[in-house]
Amino acid sequence: MINYEDLFSATADKIPNSNKLFERAKDKLLSPLVTGPYRAPANVIFIDRGQGSKIWDKDDNEYLDMTMGYGPLVLGHAAEVVIKAAQKAVEKGTNYAIANEHEVKMAELMCDAIPCAERVVFCNSGTEATMYAIKIARATSGKAKIATFEGCYHGVHDYAMVGSMLSAGTGPADAPEPSLDCGGIPDNVTENVVKLAYDCDESIERIRALKNELAVVIIEPVPSGYPINMQAFLRKLRDVTHECGVLLMFDEVISGFRCAYGGGQEKYDIVPDMATYGKIMGGGFPVGAVVGTAAAMKSFTSSGDIEQDFAQRKVFAIGTFNGNPITMQAGAAVLEHLRDNPEIYTRMDKLTADAKAEINSWAEEQGIPFKLIGENSWFVPFMGDKPFCHTRDGHDEKHALRNVVYCNYMRHLGVYIPDLHIIFFSGAHTEADAEQFVETSKQVLLAMKEQQMF
Ligand SMILES: Cc1ncc(COP(=O)(O)O)c(C=O)c1O
Repeated sequence: MINYEDLFSATADKIPNSNKLFERAKDKLLSPLVTGPYRAPANVIFIDRGQGSKIWDKDDNEYLDMTMGYGPLVLGHAAEVVIKAAQKAVEKGTNYAIANEHEVKMAELMCDAIPCAERVVFCNSGTEATMYAIKIARATSGKAKIATFEGCYHGVHDYAMVGSMLSAGTGPADAPEPSLDCGGIPDNVTENVVKLAYDCDESIERIRALKNELAVVIIEPVPSGYPINMQAFLRKLRDVTHECGVLLMFDEVISGFRCAYGGGQEKYDIVPDMATYGKIMGGGFPVGAVVGTAAAMKSFTSSGDIEQDFAQRKVFAIGTFNGNPITMQAGAAVLEHLRDNPEIYTRMDKLTADAKAEINSWAEEQGIPFKLIGENSWFVPFMGDKPFCHTRDGHDEKHALRNVVYCNYMRHLGVYIPDLHIIFFSGAHTEADAEQFVETSKQVLLAMKEQQMF
């Protein structure tokens, strides 16, 4: 196996067309610093097309894709049901910004699928969904503060970029302090954000103490950065928020329609007041949604009188592309397919469970500190020297460095893994794909071991 020092030049030799595109892009196109591709010392691979579980770059190199568009492609690339629905939709125009039947159908599908959903608001990304959800919760409750959990990710608006998975924790582990994740956010945003620790009784006590100030407690029912089962803690959270009259919101942008058709709330049988959605429900097109009970969403319901709505400080949310007919039809086609073919979930879950069991036991035998942590069809590799027990362990420097090396080796060998992001199986992945992922991982980890990277 090739040495790590030679890996970048060896990969570069395989991707001349991507290299040319990179030269055109590098002084013009900006991309996210942390998970974006334009980040040294990685080779930037430009994708030409995708089909099923595979993608091809501009040099026609084939990769098994474990990124799946950061999660939306639950049926794989260019799934027939999506293509058919989108083609049919596009012929009738691409956007109306006027009521259309397809958004009604989508709202019905979501209310049927999601336990807490009695009302739905559509938008265009998970970021917008959490931004609107916070406004709705504040307007409904008349309180200003929000509580979020250290290590959870809720998008890139100001209130989401406080102590998310991007930054290492500050303050005590059981009572984290809010800190800004990036530039461009006023310092005083932290005044209205309470950071809580996952799976921790201190968090429950802090909610009690702050109940008169807290509009909403927001949590990913399965933390996307460390997908583990937190059912018992979610139950405590539901109980304490009921007791204190604080709204509970699940951010189901990843878990929605993935860990079960009804998302984390169906899987754990715990019904929040509100939830945010994105990714899968758009069929691969940009999308977001806030759903909730009629009571929680009351600040979004118009009285029919503009002046009265204004006087009552109702939430205003409008978007050129909200309820876009192409997105709604492609998304509805995916939801109906998932609803009518529940075996897709069983298959994806089994691929994940088997890959996890095989790699984790093999790595232990080899004395390699590598562990796949996952629930249902998504997982993350952890490569720190200490076992992973807490979200802050994810900021272990050795883990971050080894992760980048692992991802680059995997790509070199034809398996596309997103560095510092989540790995997904889709309904298009086969057992042979899962075996390719497992065997390539073993090959890479052995090479890393031989080069004293563990
Ligand atoms: C749980 C969660 N919430 C919100 C978001 C933001 O969604 P988007 O990237 O569509 O803005 C993400 C994105 O990965 C997410 O995982």
